[in-house]
Amino acid sequence: MYESGVNSGIVQAIQVVALTTESDWRAATPVMRVLRPSLDEENFVSRRESLMCDGYALLGVKVGARMVSIASYTISPHVIYGRELLVHDMATLPDAQGRGHASKLLNELASIAQKQGCGRIFVHTRHAQALYSRNGFSEYSTGMIKKIDG
Ligand SMILES: CC(C)(COP(=O)(O)OP(=O)(O)OC[C@H]1O[C@@H](n2cnc3c(N)ncnc32)[C@H](O)[C@@H]1OP(=O)(O)O)[C@@H](O)C(=O)NCCC(=O)NCCS
Repeated sequence: MYESGVNSGIVQAIQVVALTTESDWRAATPVMRVLRPSLDEENFVSRRESLMCDGYALLGVKVGARMVSIASYTISPHVIYGRELLVHDMATLPDAQGRGHASKLLNELASIAQKQGCGRIFVHTRHAQALYSRNGFSEYSTGMIKKIDG
């Protein structure tokens, strides 16, 4: 998944990549903090294997060597759709926003969903409706949560 981008006159490769290693997750942390400012890098990285075992997966967009955008997802069984892909986190570094990076990630998520037999993609969003609408999503229910102590 290569494309070239121009930054200060230098052509840089733009890549959408699966983030699986510890160093990938460290590079993803500042981007994840755009959405979740209190995220602690050591805590996040230390839970990498356990989260991945539970099916949590991370994708990133790199411009050259720099991680600029991330998305995380899981795939769950669904009684009607067979399976559905749930988007959990989506963020782009402030200075890289508006360049189509999140849209590229949504495109890749749609391709993963299709390959994995998912009948739909679900995301809960409060502030990024425009991004999703432009990428073929339509409004669906409002969510409700209950926090569980311990
Ligand atoms: C929401 C967010 C992830 C979007 O990331 P992004 O990389 O800027 O997204 P895109 O560039 O693909 O699309 C965003 C805008 O750029 C425009 N755009 C899309 N492709 C583009 C391209 N190739 N070139 C220029 N602009 C483009 C879109 O029209 C969109 O504009 P709009 O938001 O005014 O409708 C980012 O703004 C962010 O991190 N926000 C804070 C965290 C957050 O709210 N996350 C969402 C959780 S659900």
